[in-house]
Amino acid sequence: MDATELVARAREALDDAYVPYSEYRVGAALETADGTVYTGCNIENANYSNSLHAEEVAVAGAVRDGHTEFARLAVASGARDGVTPCGMCRQTLAEFADADLPVFCDERDAVREYALGELLPNTISFDTLEAAKREE
Ligand code: THU
Ligand code: ZN
Repeated sequence: MDATELVARAREALDDAYVPYSEYRVGAALETADGTVYTGCNIENANYSNSLHAEEVAVAGAVRDGHTEFARLAVASGARDGVTPCGMCRQTLAEFADADLPVFCDERDAVREYALGELLPNTISFDTLEAAKREE
């Protein structure tokens, strides 16, 4: 699937967003290593901090089905404003993806490509925690 198609899947996914509070729809489409695509939308909650982000929903679906290697991600917002994954989602993605994971962001008349490592240069990782244990 090319980047344009993946962005189209993210755009479709935002139709299902449940956003009575922010009214800001986000859609994500995550392509796993074997080419399977998982989509997600944001799902808000009256207890704001319970809200799920589109990327989290996509990652949860993929991992639930046994896909822990990711190839590419696309995100889109209803505002077509070039939304990028928030800091929390960047870290969530970094658990499963390398710094070179391409992240495609839907903008009004273009698709902008970032690498995950550019969006989140320093991650906390499995190795971080293992190294800390060795220092004890
Ligand atoms: N949102 C996402 O779904 N993904 C992000 O990474 C950025 C923020 C959602 C959360 C909330 O429902 C709305 O956008 C406004 O922050
Ligand atoms: Zn997020």
